[in-house]
Amino acid sequence: MDYNTTPQTKQTIQALWRLEKIILESLDFNTVVQKIVDSVLLELGYLNLGYRIVVLALIDEKSQKLKRISISKTPEAEKALKVTPIPFHEIDIPLSATNNISVKAVLENRNYTTNDWRQMLCPPYRPEEAVAVQNAVGIKNSMVFPVISKNKAIGIIIFSMIKEADKVSEDEMDLIKGFTDVVGLAVQNATLYSRLEKTSKDLQFANFRLKQLDRLKDEFVSLASHELRTPMTIIKSYLWLFLSKKRDQLTDKEKMYIERAYESTERLINLVNDMLNVSRIESGRLKLEIKNIQTDVLLAQLVNELVPRAKQLGLNLAFSNPGNVPRIMADPERVEQVLINLVGNSMKFTPTGGTIAVRLIPDKDHVLIQVADNGKGMTNMEMQRLFQKFSTTGGNYLHKQEAQSTGLGLYLSKSLIELMNGKIWAESSGPNKGSVFSFTLPLANS
Ligand SMILES: Nc1ncnc2c1ncn2[C@@H]1O[C@H](COP(=O)(O)OP(=O)(O)OP(=O)(O)O)[C@@H](O)[C@H]1O
Ligand SMILES: [Mg+2]
Repeated sequence: MDYNTTPQTKQTIQALWRLEKIILESLDFNTVVQKIVDSVLLELGYLNLGYRIVVLALIDEKSQKLKRISISKTPEAEKALKVTPIPFHEIDIPLSATNNISVKAVLENRNYTTNDWRQMLCPPYRPEEAVAVQNAVGIKNSMVFPVISKNKAIGIIIFSMIKEADKVSEDEMDLIKGFTDVVGLAVQNATLYSRLEKTSKDLQFANFRLKQLDRLKDEFVSLASHELRTPMTIIKSYLWLFLSKKRDQLTDKEKMYIERAYESTERLINLVNDMLNVSRIESGRLKLEIKNIQTDVLLAQLVNELVPRAKQLGLNLAFSNPGNVPRIMADPERVEQVLINLVGNSMKFTPTGGTIAVRLIPDKDHVLIQVADNGKGMTNMEMQRLFQKFSTTGGNYLHKQEAQSTGLGLYLSKSLIELMNGKIWAESSGPNKGSVFSFTLPLANS
């Protein structure tokens, strides 16, 4: 670097800094390209030095043409825009037009000066058109500089003035050369930024569409479930009627078929209910009816209802009531749903002769409810996926009639317990060592 800088060059450097600041402070492509063509004339006062029109053109890689991008906002530029035989943004110069100095500047990576617009504008202008426009606007001299980005010419910038070429001082030349370097960087930044903005807009739109689709899916599931429930409930009741009225007249095989049909319908209704619940929870449409409940009464009643089914399977199901249990705030129907799923799971995964214990343990600000069995237990791996949607370990059922599994039960239970401000978790000492499922619910007065 030369440290013996003259006052003029210092001025040039300061002017360049100002230009850099003006151009680089905005990132939007259209703003940047307009500032590029305006700043030298309007901000630096080059109008006073006889400069009148600045034009930026960039290479369009696809069409291999130099395309007009922006033009300065000056009276001469306005005049040029009025008299041009081709609209400004359509003045494209093919890179194959190697006699045109605009193309030469790009291909040879150097600047050109001309006092004859035919050299700069033909093609696409016809020679007489170029002469007519130059005369109408009153430009004497134009300088064409390549715009460089990452060592590659990406376009040109044209400075047109009402003075002769030999009146351009060295300082002016220096500034313009320095300026075209900044232009390359600014165009590159703005292009990257605009691309990023477009990607971000595309993503926003995709996100919006996904949300829309998700809502449609929810609406569909909810509608389909409602529509399925009614006919299935009708089938179920007729099967039940048939079974209870004609039981004596049916052969064992017929009875078995009808019973299977009855159980499958019941299973389908449960599945549809689960799907409906999942859809309601996920769309935030599930309404809870939180009440002040006496926990032990609710649990005792629920377990009582489940005991006959456990007996059928040869399982011992019992509720140990500690008595004097504080009241909780919860939706009783949802607590019932969770408990039925947990006890139902224990029934599915505990062999005949096993036990299932329902415990109730009061604590400071919550009660802890546990369902413990001495059944098939779980590995650590299985435990990690337990509360996810459709997570079933599959296959290994201990009671054939219970061998149906969607893997929605624990997902729903977790969602419901969390909606009621509680927590749910599982523990097991390993395969065949039983499982304990625990959940908490808040006390009424906490
Ligand atoms: N008490 C348990 N002992 C052993 N494994 C269990 C126990 N409870 C749940 N699991 C495992 O967790 C899985 C998920 O249980 P979840 O209740 O979510 O679904 P499911 O009972 O298989 O089907 P669904 O409840 O939808 O009818 C079960 O398939 C089973 O592998
Ligand atoms: Mg289940």
